[in-house]
Amino acid sequence: MENLYAERIKNVPRSFIREILKISLDPSVISFAGGLPNADYFPVRHIQAATEKVFTDYGSEVLQYSNSEGDLQLREWIAARYKEQKNLIVSPDNIIITNGSQQGIDLLGKVLLNDGDGVLIEEPGYLGAIQSLSLFRPVFIPAPLNDDGLDIEILAEKSGNCTAKMLYSVPTFQNPSGVTYSDENKEQVSAIAEKNSFVIVEDDPYWELRFSGKPSRSFAHFLPQQTAMLGSFSKIVAPGFRLGWIAAPEALSEKLLIAKQAADLHTSSLSQKIMYEYLVGGDLDTHIKAITDAYGGQCRAMQDAIQNSFPKSIQFTRPEGGMFLWGKLPEGMDSMALFDEAVKEKVVFVLGILSIQNRGQQTRFG
Ligand SMILES: Cc1ncc(COP(=O)(O)O)c(C=O)c1O
Repeated sequence: MENLYAERIKNVPRSFIREILKISLDPSVISFAGGLPNADYFPVRHIQAATEKVFTDYGSEVLQYSNSEGDLQLREWIAARYKEQKNLIVSPDNIIITNGSQQGIDLLGKVLLNDGDGVLIEEPGYLGAIQSLSLFRPVFIPAPLNDDGLDIEILAEKSGNCTAKMLYSVPTFQNPSGVTYSDENKEQVSAIAEKNSFVIVEDDPYWELRFSGKPSRSFAHFLPQQTAMLGSFSKIVAPGFRLGWIAAPEALSEKLLIAKQAADLHTSSLSQKIMYEYLVGGDLDTHIKAITDAYGGQCRAMQDAIQNSFPKSIQFTRPEGGMFLWGKLPEGMDSMALFDEAVKEKVVFVLGILSIQNRGQQTRFG
């Protein structure tokens, strides 16, 4: 059987997150791994009401095949939210509804990447993106993250020495570090992207989950013609819908639409309509405030516990929102060994991408 598999699947790392999530299913395990929203807060009652409204108002129409770009009302809602929240003008025509932002990553890989192309990626990076993009057999070029975004000197040097097609970035409350890029950092990264002609993939599912500090700007403010924005309803409403979107420049959108059509024709029309009715039903902002308050409280509790119980040699980030906080162990301390010890105590957390390499996986890093 082994010789039947395509090269592209042989090199894909098994997602360490999925493995950790498997361990986390044991109710006696305390999990600090994965960006799972707190299920206690899912707006079940409002979603139930939205579902009933959809069947009453639209009947069998929502059970039919639909267009590949997605529900127009939902795309118009997203465009209006970009204007309201980020002061960005985005045409609904350049938005494609996807099965979560994870599918957006896959479609961008399909449209942009040939075998061996460079992909600039944050270090530490979102493991789900590394896994998804690995299928296109790129060479990953890690660019380290500092407290306020990417290390500009290293990014400029590395991207100048290769022909990267894209930078994959989670600029707000980054998964897994919790770091948020400053506007200044984004402007500098955009200038490098313009000079070296690569697309910035701005994956921003946590942007609305801010519990302190001031909102940041999008890469699209600085380099609209080369920025593809990924969004998601997973963290602000519920991941079970599997609803996200890509908003990209027109020419790129056209190619993405072909890739979307080929992949699955379209995202569930039923899910899209229920989401739309939920969004216009008036609960969203109250819901976001409730979850943001809760996550802010959890983050403060975690920081206090680290401060009080960890050795002072361990550094950690101070996120202003989202779900992630990242600790740096002192030089010479093995995170995998610590992970194994933690699992014995029924606690799990996510490790840096380097630990994936150290486990003998074959994903190519430049
Ligand atoms: C940065 C990032 N991008 C994408 C995803 C996938 O989200 P979705 O449920 O929208 O596919 C996640 C989920 O944790 C994430 O953290």
